[in-house]
Amino acid sequence: MPENLILTDDEVVRLRAALDGYTVDAVLEAIGDQGQAALGRNTTVAADRALQGRGDTISTLTRLFVLQQEVDAASVQAALPAETLRGAGILAPSGDGVRALVDIRPYGSPDDGADGWLVSDHAATLDTSRGAPRPDHVLGVSPASTTLAQLTMRRPVSRALDLGTGCGVQALHLARHVDTIVATDLSERALRCARLGLALSGVEADLRLGSLYEPVEGELFDLIVTNPPFVISPPSSAKFTYRESTFSGDGLMKSVVTGAPARLADGGALQVLGNWAHTADQPWDERLAGWVAGTGCDALVIEREVLDPYEYVEIWLADAGLAGTPSYKVMYEQWLDYFDSLGITGVGMGWFTLVNAGRTNPDVRVESWPHAVEQPVGTAFQQHFEAVADARLSDAELLALPWTLAADVVQETLGVPGAEDPSHIVLRQQRGFRRAVEVDTALAAVLGACDGDLTLGDILAAVAGLLDVPTAALVDDVLPRLRPLIADAWFAA
Ligand SMILES: C[S@@+](CC[C@H](N)C(=O)[O-])C[C@H]1O[C@@H](n2cnc3c(N)ncnc32)[C@H](O)[C@@H]1O
Repeated sequence: MPENLILTDDEVVRLRAALDGYTVDAVLEAIGDQGQAALGRNTTVAADRALQGRGDTISTLTRLFVLQQEVDAASVQAALPAETLRGAGILAPSGDGVRALVDIRPYGSPDDGADGWLVSDHAATLDTSRGAPRPDHVLGVSPASTTLAQLTMRRPVSRALDLGTGCGVQALHLARHVDTIVATDLSERALRCARLGLALSGVEADLRLGSLYEPVEGELFDLIVTNPPFVISPPSSAKFTYRESTFSGDGLMKSVVTGAPARLADGGALQVLGNWAHTADQPWDERLAGWVAGTGCDALVIEREVLDPYEYVEIWLADAGLAGTPSYKVMYEQWLDYFDSLGITGVGMGWFTLVNAGRTNPDVRVESWPHAVEQPVGTAFQQHFEAVADARLSDAELLALPWTLAADVVQETLGVPGAEDPSHIVLRQQRGFRRAVEVDTALAAVLGACDGDLTLGDILAAVAGLLDVPTAALVDDVLPRLRPLIADAWFAA
């Protein structure tokens, strides 16, 4: 059975016509909210019941591709150019009917309007799935894909690289704001899926085979996005191209980051979603900051979660379908021994963004922020990197400007009931990263007075008068604490 997933331009046009109306909304309407929720739990029963009695095209396509069911040949023939798809290894005879060998499904993002169809392998975790995933399994849209899409800065740019494109979902998003897209992957099968999905979606991308930056040697990009195979696993583990590499520890993640500065145009950005090791010999934030040292790049690294080795290993053994199998315990021990040998005490999961700012003394921030953020958070990343320059103004420049507190900032006070003064004042952003910062009375008063009218210097003088302290002392106290707040978009000039 050919598995080439290759269609001619004419065949793509015919398939595209057949998929007309097979949209995210149409599938949702057909399977219902409960069917959709159950698919999220990897069960098809609720969706199957919702489709009972229906024989229309949407139900046929949904059964074939979304529920991985066998469908009668006449229905498939009526809905799709079946013979062509059999020839390309997309459909195959099965029992009395037909099955799909890959997943073709509509995609739509409420965040930026990206839409189209994506081609991938069937989810191996679904209750109708047949057998373990192949080593070159091409992942469909995963929660990690969505997170990367949401943290991507969506300013219009000329050239972008989608590194490790998989089914091509990031390229579909990039098409909304990028002139030229290069999409790479180590897997030929992934490129075939991406090529077909992007062709069906009317998106042009230059697809190239190869590892990491090899296929783009000597080229520069305004934006590089990647959700690479970041799983830290022992060499003995079965390698799935979509999640693991042959690098030791978090070496692949490090190579993605350290290789980026030479591929970024002036002001260009790399945005990575990935994992990194916490090691016994060095604080994790220091280790990650070291990856960008000397590059001239500003960086904002946000760790969203840290798992201990046991939690981490359990997640990825289950992902490989090993939970409950005879080899589970053996593999578990191998992973733990591997972590011990590398001194790995935990695994951080998060977002690594760097911008080629060309500074001798770049702004590198590595921090943990596990709390909810406003999605899509890419806007907040954009604001941060734009505000970094303002945060570096001289003291005299800062004092001469009229600043305005962001409209989303609210104040929370905590204290003993009935007390005259609060014991804690916390300012909280309602938008973006939704950060919180504890402030004292002086800083709260200064920020509260920033309404774009008076200069910061005038405000500080007025607050100093109210608090009965010398203005110069208040300036020395408050300015160093204001600078990071500027970079974090608490207020702007
Ligand atoms: C987790 S998937 C991400 C797919 C897609 N970008 C997304 O957001 O869903 C990782 C992808 O990286 C590819 N990959 C694995 N090793 C690679 C390497 N050394 N260089 C480039 N791509 C690689 C895999 O084949 C897979 O398609």
